[in-house]
Amino acid sequence: MSHVLEQLQWRYATKKFDSGKKLSTEKLSILKTAFDLTATSFGLQPLKLVIVSEETIKQELVEFSFNQQMVGDCSHLLVLCIESEVNEQYIVDHFKLIQEVRQTPREILDPYQEYLIGHFGDKEKIEVDEWMTKQAYLAMGNLLTVCALEEIDACPMEGFQPAEYDRLLGLKERGLRSVLVMPVGYRHKEDMFSQLKKVRRGVEEVIVEI
Ligand SMILES: Cc1cc2nc3c(=O)[nH]c(=O)nc-3n(C[C@H](O)[C@H](O)[C@H](O)COP(=O)(O)O)c2cc1C
Repeated sequence: MSHVLEQLQWRYATKKFDSGKKLSTEKLSILKTAFDLTATSFGLQPLKLVIVSEETIKQELVEFSFNQQMVGDCSHLLVLCIESEVNEQYIVDHFKLIQEVRQTPREILDPYQEYLIGHFGDKEKIEVDEWMTKQAYLAMGNLLTVCALEEIDACPMEGFQPAEYDRLLGLKERGLRSVLVMPVGYRHKEDMFSQLKKVRRGVEEVIVEI
């Protein structure tokens, strides 16, 4: 079997972490860079990854995660956040970055920049929030695969109260809104879920070839 497929079989949504085992700085750094390298629509990266390692804060967040203990027991809690808005300044800054990195002439960048300012200017806030949230799901998918390859255990999670997370972590003040959570670390040897077979519909069922 290919290495990637072996690792995708190895991974599972970890329900019980060994709270004594922490991710090394190197492993954490791989996750940070993988997050930054995630592809996003228009390359705008309207996301930030908040990494919680402070024990007391992780414990406080368990209550706002429907008492899912992974949030407290994990090594680090990754909170995927969207920006509070994508305004004209945000887009202008993005194009400044392209110009700096690639030395692309302004006459090439300007029409595209104007197009995006118009595109986002025409949208309702709820539409832009939905679009940003889709980018967060993509980042979480990317992180899950990277975790599998690096033998880091993880649990993708929608089961939490975003408003409470935002309040406790002071996310609004940072111009952010939490949309997904992912505890990472190392599985507890007593996590019975690590022994269960994967339940999948199967390639014959989920693939359509035309
Ligand atoms: C978007 C998303 C949200 C999820 N939310 C939770 C959650 O809140 N709690 C939990 O225990 N598992 C959660 N899961 C894990 C899924 O139940 C799990 O990935 C699925 O059953 C497949 O099992 P596997 O990941 O172990 O292969 C979530 C998964 C995804 C992709």
